[in-house]
Amino acid sequence: MALNLAVMISGEGSNLQALINACSQDSFPARIQIVISNKENVRGLERAKNAGIKNLIISSKQYSIRETFEEKIDNCITQANAELVCLAGFMQLFSAQFIKKWHNKIINIHPSLLPAYKGLNVQARAVKDGALFSGCTVHFVHEKVDSGPIIIQAAVPILQDDTAEILKQRILKQEHLIYPMAIRWIAENRVRIEGDRVKINGIKMTENVIINPS
Ligand code: GRF
Repeated sequence: MALNLAVMISGEGSNLQALINACSQDSFPARIQIVISNKENVRGLERAKNAGIKNLIISSKQYSIRETFEEKIDNCITQANAELVCLAGFMQLFSAQFIKKWHNKIINIHPSLLPAYKGLNVQARAVKDGALFSGCTVHFVHEKVDSGPIIIQAAVPILQDDTAEILKQRILKQEHLIYPMAIRWIAENRVRIEGDRVKINGIKMTENVIINPS
């Protein structure tokens, strides 16, 4: 049985597209049941529509208190039978209560090698700092921002003439590769969490440590 996913977005949705593409393969062990955006008129919603996936907008602006906003999300993902919530550029933080309810059932993709460069504008910050490597991380979502056990990372170099945009695109390429990989492992029931660390059954030594020059 395929793992049911809810994907949450706020914008472009290129990671959503990578997940749509992965889930369209018969051999991929997960299916997207619902896409939720907290913003209207975003490209990601178009992608969901084009793929024939149920999609809706739930904006916190529609609700005066966060609980109500989160209750709505909770109801929608529960009704969709989602077993895993995949944040894919979802630019809003959840309350501790929501994260507790979906404990270790929410994952996120972040464009840095966590725990370095949490937060926003991370590509620009890495370029400005003169860092020589960056990358992306898929991790379980815990209460603190951009924290939680790490499932997979891909590293890319930061080249001398890189702008934040060039680096962003280089990292995105890797994001589209590693997000489906992490979901596959979870769907195959191979991922377990031990303290702050993730162990993946049957994984080859460096399968979740990708160093890619492209
Ligand atoms: C990605 O860089 C992701 O890592 C971050 O937000 C961006 C979303 O891009 N969380 P997209 O909407 O998937 O194209």
